[in-house]
Amino acid sequence: MADIVDTRTDAGEALARATETLGRGVPVAIPTETVYGLAADATNPLAITRIYEMKGRPRFNPLICHMADLAMAEKHAVFDPLSRTIAEAFWPGPLTLVVPIRPESAIHPLARAGLDTVGIRIPKGFASRLLAAFGKPLAAPSANTSGRISPTMARHVAEDFGAKLELVLDAGPAVVGLESTIIKVEGETIRLLRPGGLDAADIERVTGRPVQRNETAGATIEAPGMLASHYAPDAPVRLDADDVRPGEVLIRFGGTPLPGEGQAALVLDLSPSGDLAEAAANLFGYMKQADATGAASIAFSPIPVTGLGEAINDRLQRAAAPRG
Ligand code: TXA
Ligand code: MG
Repeated sequence: MADIVDTRTDAGEALARATETLGRGVPVAIPTETVYGLAADATNPLAITRIYEMKGRPRFNPLICHMADLAMAEKHAVFDPLSRTIAEAFWPGPLTLVVPIRPESAIHPLARAGLDTVGIRIPKGFASRLLAAFGKPLAAPSANTSGRISPTMARHVAEDFGAKLELVLDAGPAVVGLESTIIKVEGETIRLLRPGGLDAADIERVTGRPVQRNETAGATIEAPGMLASHYAPDAPVRLDADDVRPGEVLIRFGGTPLPGEGQAALVLDLSPSGDLAEAAANLFGYMKQADATGAASIAFSPIPVTGLGEAINDRLQRAAAPRG
């Protein structure tokens, strides 16, 4: 098993061990406010290859490159005025911007899956301290085996990768709990490539422009990781449940009981008070808890599609999609 170093009690040791390990081209699992990431030096092709191998991730699926600040980001990519407005409003935070790569950038083409664009994010919290100390961009997909639920706790990461991983930095449960919102500006159009931890309505408010959604979730491979079946627990998922079947796990929302709860294997409520941010933070951990019961299926009651509910429902659709 990987060593787990707590960034809250042992920040100095966490920084020293992480920079040393990353410097050897070895991936390190790091906390971010969205989910835990499996980070490696974005300029080192061997380090990036190790990320793809450890995750079992298809190499046509590019990685998000994390930066310490906007100055670092602008060394690697070109920001049009609209992208810069969005960056200044929401970074650091749960937002990824897809922008054109600069020809002189040292980010390796393997990290970008050969694209002439790069997905950039400036995270909050300990990750930003690590990025400043390391001084180079870190390519970091979510720290889970490809196709599985993203980890919101250090323990999830250590359990998923076992002996394949040397080091996990632990900053406690991820605050947001959903992956970043991915945005690409095309001319005057702001496109939503993936709904996530930043409410797209906030981007609309700041820019005064609509954010354009894809017609069908997963229909495009513009963000190539957005395959229909993703974020999957082991058990089949049943959506919009209005009752619970015997032996099922129920994950509900808003404190409303459902018929049949007495015979459920487990009942969890994403947010008894109906708070979507709380529901987002609990979602992936509850899916893992549901799986751990060994139940034959997991039923979800409906969750509103407003605000962060858009991203929550996107992840539920993928969890329920036919498995490939
Ligand atoms: O919150 C997050 O975004 C987390 C944390 C660790 O930062 N990371 C994350 O990475 O969710 P990952 O690899 O699981 O998802 C990255 C997504 C993929 O769907 C990928 O296709 C898309 O970002 N992406 C990355 N670079 C892109 C690019 N140049 N153009 C289009 N999509 C891109
Ligand atoms: Mg992922």
